Amino acid sequence: MSAPARRLMIVDDDLDFSVSTSRALEGVECLAAPDGPTALALLEAEEVEVVLLDIRLGGEDGTSLARRLRAARPELVIVIMTAYATVDSAVAALQAGAYDYLRKPFFLDELMQALERCYQLCDLRREKRRAEQELALMRQMEAAARLATGLSHDFKNMLAVIHANLSVIGQRLPPQDALRPYAGDALDASATASELVSRLIGFSRSSPPRSVLADLRDPVARVTAMMQRTLCAGMQLALDLPGQAIAAPVDAGQFEAALVNLLINARDATEGRGRVEVRLGRVWRGGDYARLTVRDDGPGLSEEGLHRALEPLFTTKSEGTGLGLPMIQHMALVSGGSFRIRNAEAGGACAVLELPCLPPAQGSGENM
Ligand SMILES: Nc1ncnc2c1ncn2[C@@H]1O[C@H](COP(=O)(O)OP(=O)(O)OP(=O)(O)O)[C@@H](O)[C@H]1O
Ligand SMILES: [Mg+2]
Repeated sequence: MSAPARRLMIVDDDLDFSVSTSRALEGVECLAAPDGPTALALLEAEEVEVVLLDIRLGGEDGTSLARRLRAARPELVIVIMTAYATVDSAVAALQAGAYDYLRKPFFLDELMQALERCYQLCDLRREKRRAEQELALMRQMEAAARLATGLSHDFKNMLAVIHANLSVIGQRLPPQDALRPYAGDALDASATASELVSRLIGFSRSSPPRSVLADLRDPVARVTAMMQRTLCAGMQLALDLPGQAIAAPVDAGQFEAALVNLLINARDATEGRGRVEVRLGRVWRGGDYARLTVRDDGPGLSEEGLHRALEPLFTTKSEGTGLGLPMIQHMALVSGGSFRIRNAEAGGACAVLELPCLPPAQGSGENM
């Protein structure tokens, strides 16, 4: 991370002093104000953290200006310059909220040391603010996790009722009934939802899946077809599957839910009318990995989204929870894989999920 720019406002009616000090201070951008009103106006318009202020400003009193500057910007770090070496003037400066004071005339070294202390204080405060923001975010996540766990139990029971009723409807429909696939999709979705709820409960104590899914092509094909019929009906979903099976120790419910979320994200980004490529393949990362790529032709991620899309609770949607992508990443990490989302060169967003898989069966090796 690059160091923040050093800025200093020099408030002195002696313009020669301001100019020569500005020239002498390397690496510090200086703004000069000859009087109080200019200093207050500059403070309003510019990002200033440190002020070097003369205690005598023509007819004006520097200590009262220091008070006004601090009232306008309480975190301002002020160094007062005084020509009087009296204890009284030092006390007055500190009482006015000055962080330090220098006795005029002073050497450049003294000024630089005083300023260094000021900038260190600013850096420390910035660091503290960042740590506080992180802590607030963690507390927010903790609260969300507690809420999710609390709701999950009741939700699971309601899903069981939905599932049971859908099963009855599915069984009663004649075999050729056009509604059968819809009932089937609804049943599959309620089963996936139950899985999701279980996962929410175990979000913080999840472990890698124990059973091996024989062929990842099946869930990818099934979910893509189901989404094409239902939530992505106005879109063009192109599916690209490898010729050979890919077996992987993957939790089927989590894997399907990941693809559902990526397709819903693509649908939201393209307002339900885009083209999406769903591709499954195999890559070598010092071991065998299955790679699922979902690429859309929407506007892609915003600058903020590129930095924050995997952050829990980050969402740009009014109805979003901001848990979709973090859950996919969580699942990838627990399995020893990886997940990333970026903007594709040709435009649109591209999400890539890689999970450890079994080596190709003899004679079915594939080059990627
Ligand atoms: N394909 C995409 N194109 C553009 N932006 C995207 C895409 N996928 C995700 N994003 C951005 O990342 C954010 C986080 O996505 P995530 O799936 O984690 O949550 P969400 O979709 O907002 O809510 P939900 O919890 O319902 O999934 C989205 O709100 C969106 O701003
Ligand atoms: Mg989402």
